[in-house]
Amino acid sequence: MTRNLNSSAEGIHLENKYGANNYHPIPVVISRGEGVYVWDVEGNRYYDFLSSYSAVNQGHCHPKIVNTLINQSKKLTLTSRAFYNDVLGIYEKYVTEYFGYEKVLPMNTGAEAVETAIKICRKWAYEQKGIAEGKASIIVCDNNFHGRTTTIISFSNDPEAHNQFGPYTPGFKRIPYNDIGSLQEVIEDESVAGFLVEPIQGEAGVIVPSDDYLKNAYNLCKTNNVLFIADEIQTGLARTGSLLAVCGKCSCQGDCERQDTYLKPDILILGKALSGGMYPVSAVLADSAVMDVIKPGQHGSTYGGNPLGSMVAIEALEILRKEKLAQNARKLGHIFRERMNALAEKSDILKLVRGRGLLNAIEINDSPDSDTAWNICLSLKDNGLLAKPTHGNIIRFAPPLVMTEEQLDECCRIIETTILSY
Ligand SMILES: Cc1ncc(COP(=O)(O)O)c(C=O)c1O
Repeated sequence: MTRNLNSSAEGIHLENKYGANNYHPIPVVISRGEGVYVWDVEGNRYYDFLSSYSAVNQGHCHPKIVNTLINQSKKLTLTSRAFYNDVLGIYEKYVTEYFGYEKVLPMNTGAEAVETAIKICRKWAYEQKGIAEGKASIIVCDNNFHGRTTTIISFSNDPEAHNQFGPYTPGFKRIPYNDIGSLQEVIEDESVAGFLVEPIQGEAGVIVPSDDYLKNAYNLCKTNNVLFIADEIQTGLARTGSLLAVCGKCSCQGDCERQDTYLKPDILILGKALSGGMYPVSAVLADSAVMDVIKPGQHGSTYGGNPLGSMVAIEALEILRKEKLAQNARKLGHIFRERMNALAEKSDILKLVRGRGLLNAIEINDSPDSDTAWNICLSLKDNGLLAKPTHGNIIRFAPPLVMTEEQLDECCRIIETTILSY
């Protein structure tokens, strides 16, 4: 059996014929990646401007993570949690100190980590807050994206994610995002255990809330004994120009613009770039008063906390710090938005630019039902840059954080030329 494709067309044909039709990819077949670049089967080089939905913050195939993966895979990969292993404890100490928490619960995918946070929050509600069993509720936001499991899509208002997958898990109250009044209205209800929020809504189109929203929401949670649960799966790990978008424990060594907004979520959810795109690793962090509600047998995963993933995560986090990727994201993000704002002045098709750090989006001046954003992404691909629309007329731009200023300049030129051709 051959393990090589003869052409990109063959790869697309095979995926269409044998794979479930649950994605609609840009027609490019990637066969190699290095840093900010990927190459297709024919050897054409592209800038990756999506970074696997912010999983590849450290750049494709970062040599240090590759080495760590190879070395650990030759030694020990999986023990299950039936036994201790000689890496997990070291990782747990490292990751908790890194983010300033007392405890971590290791999982694999983002959705699993969100599920974990929901379970911890509910258990805390019954054991610590004294909510009657079965009555706990968690507040979530309109247009949220927290993954695709049955419980998570139960509280999604995206018809594609939600419709025809019921019956749905109860126990969630949805309110408008970035609307502190709506939170205030529901949070005093004694059944409320948690507020689950994305500090910036990535999938919804990089929706950045007003400056004081998270701080006010956090304070409301504190006043009402409600857990503030931050889903930083997409926004965290240097993507938005600080270690976390809520600026919980900032690793930017004192030059952060948002020092005054210091927030420490009661439950912090991480995934994606926690392994630098190498291996599924996610984590839920909390202090003991919250995490200790979980007892043996009540939650887990065969692969969660495995030595391979744990060692990879240590390396991925080391790189964020050593290569100062938060600072780089912040600096390049400013340049990028400046260039795109200047472009918006010259182009009728580019309506709006928004974002923080290197998580940005442009809004195309056409109906969300039009093909314009999709066609622009096809043209960007032809010009050597890969991006994908989210929600019709919005294009998200999220390159690896190892990008240099020169590379960003070239990418901006590709985007400018492409947009101006419309
Ligand atoms: C904010 C957020 N939460 C959760 C998830 C789900 O992560 P995963 O796809 O690893 O399950 C995503 C994925 O895009 C995300 O952006």
